[in-house]
Amino acid sequence: MSADGFPPPGARADWTIDQDWAAYTPAEHQVWMTLYERQAKLLPGRACDAFLHGLDALDLHRGGIPDFSRINEELDRLTGWRVVAVPGLVPDAMFFEHLANRRFPAGRFIRRPEQLDYLQEPDIFHDVFGHVPMLTDPVFADYMQAYGEGGLRALGRGQLHNLARLYWYTVEFGLLETSEGLRIYGAGIVSSHAESIFALDDPSPNRLGFDLERVMRTPYRIDDFQQVYFVIPSLQALLDATLQDFAPIYQRLSGAADIPIAAIEAGDRVLTRGTQAYAVAKGVSQVSA
Ligand code: PHE
Ligand code: FE
Repeated sequence: MSADGFPPPGARADWTIDQDWAAYTPAEHQVWMTLYERQAKLLPGRACDAFLHGLDALDLHRGGIPDFSRINEELDRLTGWRVVAVPGLVPDAMFFEHLANRRFPAGRFIRRPEQLDYLQEPDIFHDVFGHVPMLTDPVFADYMQAYGEGGLRALGRGQLHNLARLYWYTVEFGLLETSEGLRIYGAGIVSSHAESIFALDDPSPNRLGFDLERVMRTPYRIDDFQQVYFVIPSLQALLDATLQDFAPIYQRLSGAADIPIAAIEAGDRVLTRGTQAYAVAKGVSQVSA
């Protein structure tokens, strides 16, 4: 999310750049198609309905890497959101400012063919395939705008680390409980082939009922599959939980200790008590607490 200083040469003051869609090579379009087809096959029955509907509504398949000007027409019509191209990570304040105005900043570069499964920086496949379908859902669309507004306030108060965890465990790695079972809505999961399977099926991670303050006290890992996923009962419940003023929460949290990443606490609603076998095999230290 974070970068510092001034926009790089060629970027506007709000850090946006032109997507320059005509400049993508056939090989780059092919990377999109390969990733798209692999996920489109995997996600029915795994991703939540809102995501799958969004994917259809935006027609993210046609012609390889989507042209932002084309998808923005439909996205704007559905929820008033737009996608804007940025050179990479943007400063927190700028990121929140875009979200607060219903603009989703997306990288315009695409990973190389040898990076299909993993890359550190979010590329256009993560940003657009992962995030944008959910923005067609009116409730999630409001949540993301509210998050941007809340981010600007948290930044002023120095409480960004707590709020960043909320983003991580919802927007990036959130699961949703439905009558048909758990479904994925987090962009970090749906844009990853391996984690789309791991997050739902693997016995290793904990799966716990979402609780706002609990989530804000839980650190996260950026370098591997998550050790804990938080499960919301509905998108509306997520939005409702964030309508309150967070100022008193930040105050409480500044005196509260973090919860170790794989811990299960007395008040947790446990959907899966994970074995943490995957994490242990990778040699993580913070396994139980
Ligand atoms: N209600 C939060 C606040 O008072 C803002 C917020 C909304 C944060 C939605 C996250 C998600 O700061
Ligand atoms: Fe993301």
